[in-house]
Amino acid sequence: MNENIRKHLKILNELGFDEIFFQQELKKAVDIDEKKKLLEKINKEIQECKKCDLYKSRTQAVLGEGNLNAKLMFIGEAPGGDEDKQGRPFVGRAGKLLTRLIEATGHKREEFYITNICKCRPPNNRTPTPWEMEACFPYLEEQLKIIDPKVLCLLGATAARAFLKRNVAITKERGSVITWNGKLLYLTYHPAYVLRNPSAEITLFEDIKKAIELAYSS
Ligand code: URA
Ligand code: SF4
Repeated sequence: MNENIRKHLKILNELGFDEIFFQQELKKAVDIDEKKKLLEKINKEIQECKKCDLYKSRTQAVLGEGNLNAKLMFIGEAPGGDEDKQGRPFVGRAGKLLTRLIEATGHKREEFYITNICKCRPPNNRTPTPWEMEACFPYLEEQLKIIDPKVLCLLGATAARAFLKRNVAITKERGSVITWNGKLLYLTYHPAYVLRNPSAEITLFEDIKKAIELAYSS
């Protein structure tokens, strides 16, 4: 280690900062920088991607946003109109509900990473087809490798179907925890479903709380 850095660490140590803590913080910053670069590369690819017909209906592809070291990732279906315009996931009506429910648990949206199965907006916000989801899935797999969350909170039957490769009856299967490639899938409702069925809001809230607890438990 460079003498100057050692001197500074000694001063920090005397001020109460522990050397190991300092090094860990430094490593985290370097990791985040690396992760940012890798994600920017994927973002460039999706902006040009024509692997499925959804490229025709997008203003821009929406990669996702949030904490690049998140323990928990929220995964929706595909961008809607507001997301397509702003280039950010879950910022429309459903997104505002999701944000409000996350914050009602005492956590912040920025603690987590938020993305979708399909990165481009389907025409008239229709559900993406199984083929479109399959075409886009490798981008999500890349994001999972880079961010490496412990828990994936799948919002709605469509997101669950993309992972499980089978039909999912979400009212029956919500609340289940399924092991998938060394990660945990937590199935719950899509916030847009809750907008149409307000009595399900409390369940979505409880599910978000449980997914967070699962992500932060050792
Ligand atoms: N619905 C989704 O599934 N994803 C979004 O980003 C917004 C609405
Ligand atoms: Fe490519 Fe995914 Fe957009 Fe289809 S939805 S064009 S696979 S980025």
